[in-house]
Order: sequence, then C-alpha cells, then structure tokens
Amino acid sequence: MDIGKFITFEGIEGVGKSTNIGHFVAALEDAGHKVLVTREPGGTPIAERVRSLVAEHGDEVIPDVAELLLIFAARAIHVENLIRPALQAGTWVICDRFTDSSRAYQGGGRGIPQADIDLLASWVQSDIEPDLTILLDAPVEVGMARAGNRGDPDRFESERMDFFDRVRATYLELAANHPDRFVVIDAAGNLAQVQEAVDTVAQELISNFN
Ligand code: TMP
Repeated sequence: MDIGKFITFEGIEGVGKSTNIGHFVAALEDAGHKVLVTREPGGTPIAERVRSLVAEHGDEVIPDVAELLLIFAARAIHVENLIRPALQAGTWVICDRFTDSSRAYQGGGRGIPQADIDLLASWVQSDIEPDLTILLDAPVEVGMARAGNRGDPDRFESERMDFFDRVRATYLELAANHPDRFVVIDAAGNLAQVQEAVDTVAQELISNFN
C-alpha cells in the first residue's frame, strides 16, 4: 500500500497560513498528487465541535490543562478518522497546524511542560509524524496587525503580546532543534515573496518524491 506524505503548516496568527496553503496545494496538484487539506483543532465533524469549545469565548473558564486535553482529544479523532486512513490510501495530507501548535501555544504560551505534551503526542498520534513542517515566521506585531483586520478575536487571538512572543520563540526553538523536519519561511515580506519561497519548498518536495 502507498503511504502519503504528511505536511504541516505552522505559525502565529496573521502570518498567512491559509493563503499559502492554497498556493502550496495548487503546486502539488499540478504535479499530479492527490491532496487532502485539513486543519487543527478540527478536521472532522466532532473535532470541529471541540474546536468551537476551545476557540470561542464563554462564561466558564477553561483551565490550561483542559484546553490541552480537549485539543489532544480532537487530535485523536482527527488522526484516527481522517489523517491515518488518508495517508494509508496514498493521499498527501496538508494540515493547517498540528502538534507543534500545542508545543508553541500550550507549552510556550501557557507554560505547560513540553514533556507532558510529548507524552500526550506519543499516546495520541504514535507513528503519525509530519514529514515536513513549514513554519511561516513573522514578528508578532506584523502578525497581530494582519489578524486584527479579521473581525472579532477568538479566545487565542485575545491573548496579550507577551503570550505570542513566547509562542513565536517556541516555534523558532522547535525549528532549530529539528532542522531535518522544519523549513522556516520569512512571512513578514509581501505575499509574492512568501509565495515564491513556498513554491520553492513545494517543487523540492515534488522532485524528491516523484
Ligand atoms: P487558526 O486556525 O486561526 O490558526 O486558529 C486556531 C487556534 O487554535 C490558534 O489560535 C492556535 C490554537 N491552537 C492551539 O492553541 N493549540 C493547538 O494544538 C492547535 C492545533 C491550535
């Protein structure tokens, strides 16, 4: 059985993940690859309901540990019901955020020990690891200014700048510690420049796996 590639996009709010994922997917499809685009938290009907629980503002406080466990519960559903079957069918899966978001937001942002997150990861996703992670990186002020134009902020977008400083720093640390898996793209520039960099990564990937 063919095994598809698993590629994740990461970055703070406002770095242009959605636009660049669209661009990346078009390049893969042009090269004849069957591609599934999905996102976290979410990706399946029940996991999308968990996304609403953690992202929306509500009257009740969600303790940090509950936020982490809800996100991993959604991930377990997403991995077993969508990601694993697609990869096993030879489909390339492009995911808008995955476990590195938990490491950056719940680990770096909220201060939950990375060892706890890694334990959940080994339990929930076992052998499902990204083959490639594209980190779109930009200074927090740049991302926040762009995200600020998108309407009412959700629970995460309402966090303070220092929270996002820690999230970004954790992402950069993860990328430095896993250079074999991460590609960091400077997303502070104009869209054409960022898309060119995304295209280069897509073409390299295509030539490696054709
Ligand atoms: P987004 O789809 O607009 O990026 O929003 C998803 C939000 O969920 C974003 O603020 C980051 C947050 N998130 C976490 O905190 N931990 C996670 O593991 C994931 C997947 C997302």
